[in-house]
Amino acid sequence: MKKRILVNTGGGDCPGLNAVIRAIVKSADLDPDNEWEVIGSIDAYNGILLEPMELMELTPEVVGGIHVQGGTIIGSTNKGGPYAWPIKNADGTWSAVDRSDELVRKVQMQHFDAVISIGGDGSQRISQQLFEKGFPVIGVPKTIDNDLGSTDYTFGFQTAVETATEALDKLVTTAASHHRIQILEVMGRDAGWIALSAAVAGGAEICLIPEIPYDVDKIISVIHDRMNGKRRFANIIIAEGAMPKDGQQSTDPDNEIGRNNVKLAGAALELSRLIKERGYNYDIRETILGHLQRGGTPNPFDRILATQFGVKAFELAKAEKFGQMVAYRHPNIISVPIKDAIRKYKLVDVNSDLVNTARKTGICMGD
Ligand code: F6P
Repeated sequence: MKKRILVNTGGGDCPGLNAVIRAIVKSADLDPDNEWEVIGSIDAYNGILLEPMELMELTPEVVGGIHVQGGTIIGSTNKGGPYAWPIKNADGTWSAVDRSDELVRKVQMQHFDAVISIGGDGSQRISQQLFEKGFPVIGVPKTIDNDLGSTDYTFGFQTAVETATEALDKLVTTAASHHRIQILEVMGRDAGWIALSAAVAGGAEICLIPEIPYDVDKIISVIHDRMNGKRRFANIIIAEGAMPKDGQQSTDPDNEIGRNNVKLAGAALELSRLIKERGYNYDIRETILGHLQRGGTPNPFDRILATQFGVKAFELAKAEKFGQMVAYRHPNIISVPIKDAIRKYKLVDVNSDLVNTARKTGICMGD
């Protein structure tokens, strides 16, 4: 009898998801010991929980060539999930119900031998809870934010940094032509990895990350020196989760049904407002890079990492090493308990070499 693997992609998408799916299917197909079937659950676990189920057979033909495509051919969602499935009440309000036991049962009834769940922090937390119920799950870490513990990098991050750096490079030339302040807002939630990496790669004047709350007066003094010096323009890169000292992150109050975390939005505009509020009338323009960072074809680094993760995830599934997550510890692909990976977010260490490099190359970190 064929062995069966269920694959899902959960949370915000990122470049490289398809490369993982392809690698799982290819290594399953080439396995000399067993015959395997790989099935995708559409939109994370929704594919199993919906009636009728929404599943997709993932054959070598289906996944041929998809490693170069952005997105995920099996869909994703960052809302709801088996522990907080949204249901509409009679009065029009929404509640969340726990359908995790039903999920475990349905996966058993479908005779899946292993489940490979490709996702970020939220998805890995779900995987750990399910594993504690005896669910045969293997985790594959993904996120452009690079904030998952236990792995040097998640795939998708390097492509996002490339997109952010390219945007910064373009803003530098227009800032120089018009003697302006350009503020570029990038993603990353509570981690400043994308902002810091792009700032060093692109040579921003100011880089603001959530790990270092910023001092508006310090920023103004850097801008002032710059505008009164030879190079009369300045580029600021700000992470969406950055905040002023004694201030808060900028958020969007729009509550999407089933959403598990607050929507960050407005960091660049808030900085602009704080500068102007102090009476400075520089020409300032804000660019919000948004989901461009999550789309498009993965760069070679992310394709390679994603492919290595897919192969390792299949090996773990075959060896029945459940409750483990694949991880990258240069130069090796290893596995770690999922519970260790989710213990704490991997934030930028403010005393790290990369922050030091930024400071020593003249980038103001806002403090
Ligand atoms: O976690 C990945 C991420 O892209 C964050 O950087 C960002 O805050 C969030 O997802 C955006 O999510 P959504 O797709 O719901 O807008």
